[in-house]
Amino acid sequence: MRKKIVAGNWKMNLNLNEAKLLTEQLNNIEPKLELEIHLYPSALLVANVAQLSKHIVGVQNFHPEEKGAFTGENSIQQAISTGVKSVLIGHSERRQLFNEDDGFLKRKVDAAVANKLPFIFCCGEPLEVREGETHVDFVVNQLKNALFHLTDLSLATIAYEPIWAIGTGRTASVEQAEEMHAEIRKAIAENYSEEIAEKVSILYGGSCNESNAKDLFACPNVDGGLIGGASLKAESFAQIIAAI
Ligand code: PGA
Repeated sequence: MRKKIVAGNWKMNLNLNEAKLLTEQLNNIEPKLELEIHLYPSALLVANVAQLSKHIVGVQNFHPEEKGAFTGENSIQQAISTGVKSVLIGHSERRQLFNEDDGFLKRKVDAAVANKLPFIFCCGEPLEVREGETHVDFVVNQLKNALFHLTDLSLATIAYEPIWAIGTGRTASVEQAEEMHAEIRKAIAENYSEEIAEKVSILYGGSCNESNAKDLFACPNVDGGLIGGASLKAESFAQIIAAI
């Protein structure tokens, strides 16, 4: 069976005290055996959250080099030394606001694999691509350009996050989400095998909340969610977790 994952991407929110409080509140949630709960705090808070949390804690970002003169950056080895067990790669905010291109994302993927660290690879199309109805090709190309060079996908989880749905309150419909998730799975089958495609968890992200999570998670190819805004309050995040 594919792993189910509900991941909270805290982005650049919460100070240390707020993050500790939320972590403690989320420790009250007993995940079911087949479910992973992930928390992605800001890098400054990750060591504290990792120490306190009984769930999987990851970083939102890292630099692909091991060490060196990269002022302001954090390496994957540094993240691991604080208790980090997962990383996000290719979030649309990193791609759009920080100009992370396919070549750079590929290096991050390789760094995660070299360090045997599980990662969530994010993909998703902007509104104009969706309106032009080339969204499937666009997303499959993102995967081909920075993920499918790997020979082994066992550390990879994929998150489909249509950019027009992130932080906008506009969610993909159940049909739109299931269509893309099925296409992503088909692309994995074509580039690897049916067997591998059945094993990779594919999460939905983009204004997923306590009201729509149940319907989205009921789609056969949706294996959980990457949650931004609704992961910042214990109550709404707990309801999303309960929806899976
Ligand atoms: P959102 O963010 O749930 O606030 O739309 C999701 C994400 O960017 O991962």
